[in-house]
Amino acid sequence: MGHLITFEGMDGCGKSTQARLLTEVLAAKGLDVVLTREPGGSPGAEEIRQLLVEGPPERWSAETEILLFTAARRDHMEKIIRPALERDATVISDRYVDSTRVYQGAARPELRALVDQLHDAVIGTDPDLTFIIDMDPAEALKRGLDRDSGEHRFEEMGHDFQDRVRKGFRALASDNPDRCRLIDGNRDVDAVARDIFRIAERNQ
Ligand code: TYD
Repeated sequence: MGHLITFEGMDGCGKSTQARLLTEVLAAKGLDVVLTREPGGSPGAEEIRQLLVEGPPERWSAETEILLFTAARRDHMEKIIRPALERDATVISDRYVDSTRVYQGAARPELRALVDQLHDAVIGTDPDLTFIIDMDPAEALKRGLDRDSGEHRFEEMGHDFQDRVRKGFRALASDNPDRCRLIDGNRDVDAVARDIFRIAERNQ
């Protein structure tokens, strides 16, 4: 079986750039690497993504949102992640189940157990290594809103929500020290990337 490496953190933390840089370095070493993302990553899951990231924040209830994220992840797992792991590839996913734990858990803490139950029931595959990029929410929010992607549903939830998301990711990192590495994202891209490469190399 290959390796599943995930990147997590609040909107605008730079995880997508870091996921791409790590992919490039590992590919240059001759590894079979698949870079993917959530919500989305497979054609079916990308369709579900549009339902999730567009429209007003109150479009879906927290329960519906958890089911949609999990449905998207199941398709992504079946079509992209599992086949790649079975051929011994390294899969790098820009967000995965920890985003559901933290974002949907930040919105409705009592639903966190449901996220874990659904993950165990229909996904099952845990990452081997998770990079959690931690940074100042005000700075991250500014970066996120600067990018004009039209996908602002979560970013529009504002500063308090991003602050809860940050705390959620930090708690997740300390609860899962074997798999999670908290990375200081308040630095230039190269400094963050160097830390990530070093850790990924040690975990090969
Ligand atoms: P993403 O595409 O990673 O946005 P960005 O590249 O701007 O960071 O994710 C879109 C939004 O969906 C983001 O605000 C986080 C949120 N999200 C959840 O709330 N739960 C989830 O399970 C996932 C995967 C993402």
